[in-house]
Amino acid sequence: MTGLPFPLAAAPDETAQERGRKLFAGQAAFLKGVVAMSGMPPANRLEVCFAGRSNVGKSTLINALTGHKALARASNTPGRTQEINFFTLGNTHYLVDLPGYGFAKAPVAVVEKWQKLLRAYLSGRPTLRRAFVLIDARHGIKTVDQDILTLLDKAAVPFQVVLTKTDKVKAAAQDAVLEQVRGALQPHPAAYPELVLTSSETGDGIPTLRSIIAGLA
Ligand code: GTP
Ligand code: MG
Repeated sequence: MTGLPFPLAAAPDETAQERGRKLFAGQAAFLKGVVAMSGMPPANRLEVCFAGRSNVGKSTLINALTGHKALARASNTPGRTQEINFFTLGNTHYLVDLPGYGFAKAPVAVVEKWQKLLRAYLSGRPTLRRAFVLIDARHGIKTVDQDILTLLDKAAVPFQVVLTKTDKVKAAAQDAVLEQVRGALQPHPAAYPELVLTSSETGDGIPTLRSIIAGLA
């Protein structure tokens, strides 16, 4: 895979995998849902956030990473997670579940409020080490995803694309989507140059993502 722009993240070696496993074996707990910057918990530990359109699988991925069934609420109702939800992982990390975007039925005023909060959050957290932008492996990067990518560029928050729901695509279709994603990421300076393929259903890619997060410390 070397030579390709935005190659797939290599599977972690044993040490890295063990580091990821250990980190995520630590206790994970819901801390709070935040609707304004004034409600943010102290920025006193390493933080990663999960962004992506409604229904892409953010909450499900957090559940898979932490080995919980229902730590982050996951549902079939798009737009369910409307607050910035903070989870603690051990006493060293925050995992942050961002509100999903691109939910057509959300009223304009609600969307604007989310965007304002999101902008403030992305540029106001010095401990935010990386944003994971989740993209449905069946669909690739769509117009609705562009706003967050631009926001991350502007806030200079390094972001890494995580393809979700890979259990729902065949290999050939996945290759086409990967090519589309690679092209769409080219203009984004904040894009981390490796992609991660995941399925919360089968567990594929979960150890890799765990070790990537553990490696940020
Ligand atoms: P919002 O909170 O609305 O922004 O959505 P979300 O991004 O948190 O999505 P959520 O985790 O609630 O998942 C949406 C739906 O996709 C649920 O029905 C999940 O079970 C399903 N889902 C999530 N990840 C996967 C996956 O890897 N494979 C499959 N097959 N389904 C998945
Ligand atoms: Mg959610």
